[in-house]
Amino acid sequence: MSPLCAPLPVLISLLFASVTAKATISPWPEGDGAALLAFKEKLDDGGGTALLSWNQSSHFCTWQGVTCGRRHLERVTAINLTAAGLTGQISPSIGNLSFLRSIFLNNNSLHGGIPSSIGHLRRLRFLVLRFNSLGEEIPLELVNCSELTIINLHGNRFVGSVPPWLGSFKRLTSLYLSNNSLTGVIPTSLANASSLEVLALHYNHIEGVIPEVLGRLARLRTLNLGVNNLTGTIPTSLYNLTSLQGLGMAVNHLSGELPADFGSKFRNLRKLLLSSNKFSGPFPSSITNCSDLENFELASNNFSGRLPPNMGRLAKLTWFIIFGNHFEAQTANDWDFLASLTNCSNLESVYLQSNNFGGSLPHLVANLSEKLQNLCVSDNLISGSIPPGIGNLAALQRFVLSYNNFIGDIPEGIGRLRHLRVLVLDDNSLSGHIPPTLGNLTLLLILNASLNALRGTLSSIKGLEQLYISHNDLSGGIPLFFQNLSFLYAIDLSFNRLEGPVPTNGVFQNISSFFIAGNNELCGGIQELHLPACPMQHLERKKSKLVPLLIAGSSLCFVLLWIIIFVLIYRRRSKKMQSTPLSSGLDAQYPMISYAELSRSTAGFDAANLIGRGSYGSVYKATLDSENRAVAVKVFDLQQLGSSQSFIAECEALSRIRHRNLDLIKIITCCSSIDLNGDDFKALVFEFMPNKSLDRWLHPNLEEAHHQNARNLRLTEMLNIGIDVAEALDYLHNNCKPPVVHCDLKPSNILLDEEMVAHVGDFGLSKFLPEGMSRCLADRSNSFGLRGTIGYVLPEYGEGSPVSTSGDVYSFGVLLMELLSGKSPLDDMFKDGLNLHTLVETRGVLEIVDPASLLRENGTNSLNSIEECWISLARIGLACTKRMPGDRMHMSDVVAHLRSLRNLFV
Ligand SMILES: *[C@@H]1O[C@H](CO)[C@@H](O)[C@H](O)[C@H]1NC(C)=O
Ligand SMILES: *[C@@H]1O[C@H](CO)[C@@H](O)[C@H](O)[C@H]1NC(C)=O
Ligand SMILES: *[C@@H]1O[C@H](CO)[C@@H](O)[C@H](O)[C@H]1NC(C)=O
Ligand SMILES: *[C@@H]1O[C@H](CO)[C@@H](O)[C@H](O)[C@H]1NC(C)=O
Ligand SMILES: *[C@@H]1O[C@H](CO)[C@@H](O)[C@H](O)[C@H]1NC(C)=O
Ligand SMILES: *[C@@H]1O[C@H](CO)[C@@H](O)[C@H](O)[C@H]1NC(C)=O
Ligand SMILES: *[C@@H]1O[C@H](CO)[C@@H](O)[C@H](O)[C@H]1NC(C)=O
Ligand SMILES: *[C@@H]1O[C@H](CO)[C@@H](O)[C@H](O)[C@H]1NC(C)=O
Repeated sequence: MSPLCAPLPVLISLLFASVTAKATISPWPEGDGAALLAFKEKLDDGGGTALLSWNQSSHFCTWQGVTCGRRHLERVTAINLTAAGLTGQISPSIGNLSFLRSIFLNNNSLHGGIPSSIGHLRRLRFLVLRFNSLGEEIPLELVNCSELTIINLHGNRFVGSVPPWLGSFKRLTSLYLSNNSLTGVIPTSLANASSLEVLALHYNHIEGVIPEVLGRLARLRTLNLGVNNLTGTIPTSLYNLTSLQGLGMAVNHLSGELPADFGSKFRNLRKLLLSSNKFSGPFPSSITNCSDLENFELASNNFSGRLPPNMGRLAKLTWFIIFGNHFEAQTANDWDFLASLTNCSNLESVYLQSNNFGGSLPHLVANLSEKLQNLCVSDNLISGSIPPGIGNLAALQRFVLSYNNFIGDIPEGIGRLRHLRVLVLDDNSLSGHIPPTLGNLTLLLILNASLNALRGTLSSIKGLEQLYISHNDLSGGIPLFFQNLSFLYAIDLSFNRLEGPVPTNGVFQNISSFFIAGNNELCGGIQELHLPACPMQHLERKKSKLVPLLIAGSSLCFVLLWIIIFVLIYRRRSKKMQSTPLSSGLDAQYPMISYAELSRSTAGFDAANLIGRGSYGSVYKATLDSENRAVAVKVFDLQQLGSSQSFIAECEALSRIRHRNLDLIKIITCCSSIDLNGDDFKALVFEFMPNKSLDRWLHPNLEEAHHQNARNLRLTEMLNIGIDVAEALDYLHNNCKPPVVHCDLKPSNILLDEEMVAHVGDFGLSKFLPEGMSRCLADRSNSFGLRGTIGYVLPEYGEGSPVSTSGDVYSFGVLLMELLSGKSPLDDMFKDGLNLHTLVETRGVLEIVDPASLLRENGTNSLNSIEECWISLARIGLACTKRMPGDRMHMSDVVAHLRSLRNLFV
């Protein structure tokens, strides 16, 4: 019975007016206002700017994200603080808001558990906490919230098993527990939650079989159990779920054959995700009845036989991903499935690699969707020619034919594929010339034409002026004919795997015209390179292996040419060895770790395992099956400009210097693959550093400060860290040939192991540097814009100066002074010309050292000697950060100074 007689808004504003007046005298001592204030208090920084309005100058019903009832005007019915930047914990006081119906706290950084007081919220319908860092077990008390219709805990760190009592929620329509760390089995009681439409348990560690009784959930539209440890088969009862639109079972250990009427049962299916299991037998032709199907993903199973010839009936198909099975084709008719896909106008990806497809590729593939981006047929038994009309596929980005028996020419039309990034033709029997039109493919990143019988044409490149083929997988010697190209004035061969002599004529005469850093074992060349002389027999051996090559296209002044050569070193891989469809060739030197394993070991790159985030991607903690110890996985965000180059630079740098210096982070492997969606995936796997980065010690957040207050760095530890880092840089600068410049030294890139030994990591910006490298080419090859991090880069980097070792020295000096003072160079106090250098210089070290650090020293040294040590450290810091690069100390001198300081002090 509503007592309202005035229009609602009027009443509310009157009421608020009076409450506000009262509030200034006596804030809400109890009731929902008090509970909200207690909620705010448990958040770091009082909820920050998002909760500024949560103060007593206005009624709590007007606060940001708070909704009160229409009937019960003083009662909060909804909290909606989506993506509000909240950190901290959820206060138990939330349980006092007993009229709450919806809680939306998704997309924040909340940690801790769900308070058990949540069980008091008998009216709660929507509990949406996805994308936070919440953990612990899901509290039993939640079972009292029997009105719940949506529970979304996706993307947190919840542990324990899937609670069996969830089955008692009769109104529950959506249950998302995906991307957590849940263990145990799927409880059969879930079958009692008869309203369920969405059941998402993917990316956990759930084991056991799929319960038969799930077939009773007749309303289910989405069932996603992917990336768990499920075993057994798909229970037949599941085929009763005729409303299913999404069926996700990928990356489990499921087996068995699919029934012939599979497609007739799941008529509404849109997404079928079965990749990375052990399913076998033929694929049922009834699938062609699923007229809404968009994703058909069966990769890495044991399916066999022929595919239904009328696959093209699936008019909405976008992804056709069947690689890594035993599907076969022998006659032309066996290929009808592919020809019929020409009816699918949304088709974007066709991955057929690593099957038993033989015969010739139907020329009709040239008529596939004009949206087609990926076409991979490698590692099959395909013969015949490359379809001549291939140039019609205007959107094609990746075209991979390797490890087959293709014969004949590379069609001229390939030059029309303006979006092509990856063209991999190696290990076929192609012959003839490489068409000059390839020179038109300005986006091409990888062209691998090795292990064919292609002939190069020299005439067509006579006019070549600039050739950039860096960051590829070129191996063998530098072809001598490059020095005969009379118009060529700039060539970039860097970051390949070239070895042997560097030519000395033509473009190789002038050090500012060519760039060869980051190759394996180059020797000779002009004197300024300071490369070792070539051994005699080496020279001859390389010459004899040199096979004449390709190259095409002419360029005007600034046309970029991307072309690759190849051949030379015969590196035949056995078929099927590779589970990933494409590898960059970097993989060869490392253990192979599949995308599936990385994904599994990080619970699907779950936020719960996130240990850091940088400019080029995210770092996760993981335990790999094959390594049996904790590792850190750095996943590159390939949407970020430059991140792909960063991956290659880091992978190359670390592989060349790995194992040789203890103070550098140790790399376990590089992974260049595609993910379950068929997108490029690049990651590096490192040893795990339990003591995190130096940054976390110098500038701990509130939580870290709370946990580690006893662990502040003492002077001896600072000295040791300084020496570790200096030795690492000294090694990079003075013991690597060519020298390596790190380019991004800062506390967050220095990682501390169990023993607090510092390791220099993050080589994403590193450069190999022939000494005397001229400015011109260094700039041109710099695709990152400003290198390094503001505050740590030497001032001249911003002014377009070349990358040099003295830049690292500058960063090291800043780091040393930061260690001493505890002040980040990015601190607000540093402006108007004041920086760490000028501060230390003008104020003297004793004034800037954190006074608390004196208390930390354990008393074995006199105050005098501590102060003396500080002063010496500050002097080194100043000497490293001199304005003119030439005035700065050398890293080897820094190491010597620091070592003698340690001897004196310790
Ligand atoms: C919450 O409710 C409990 C029990 O009713 C009460 O003791 C407590 O003060 C309330 N807390 C807040 C913040 O209102
Ligand atoms: C209190 O909230 C009001 C908005 O309701 C806001 O304008 C004001 O800045 C807040 N006061 C404080 C001290 O945060
Ligand atoms: C929440 O985060 C996810 C993942 O980062 C993102 O896709 C989604 O758009 C975000 N939602 C909101 C409302 O910010
Ligand atoms: C489902 O509910 C029924 C009746 O409430 C109960 O008897 C049965 O044990 C429940 N099933 C499971 C698997 O919990
Ligand atoms: C499937 O549903 C039918 C009726 O709709 C029922 O008779 C049958 O037992 C169910 N099958 C399974 C395996 O649950
Ligand atoms: C489903 O597909 C099969 C094989 O393609 C076909 O024989 C059957 O008639 C179809 N069933 C329905 C109900 O469309
Ligand atoms: C494409 O669709 C048309 C009609 O929609 C049909 O006649 C034709 O057979 C289909 N082509 C293939 C190759 O399946
Ligand atoms: C592609 O390259 C060829 C040879 O290099 C050239 O003649 C032709 O004009 C180019 N085509 C386009 C569309 O640029």
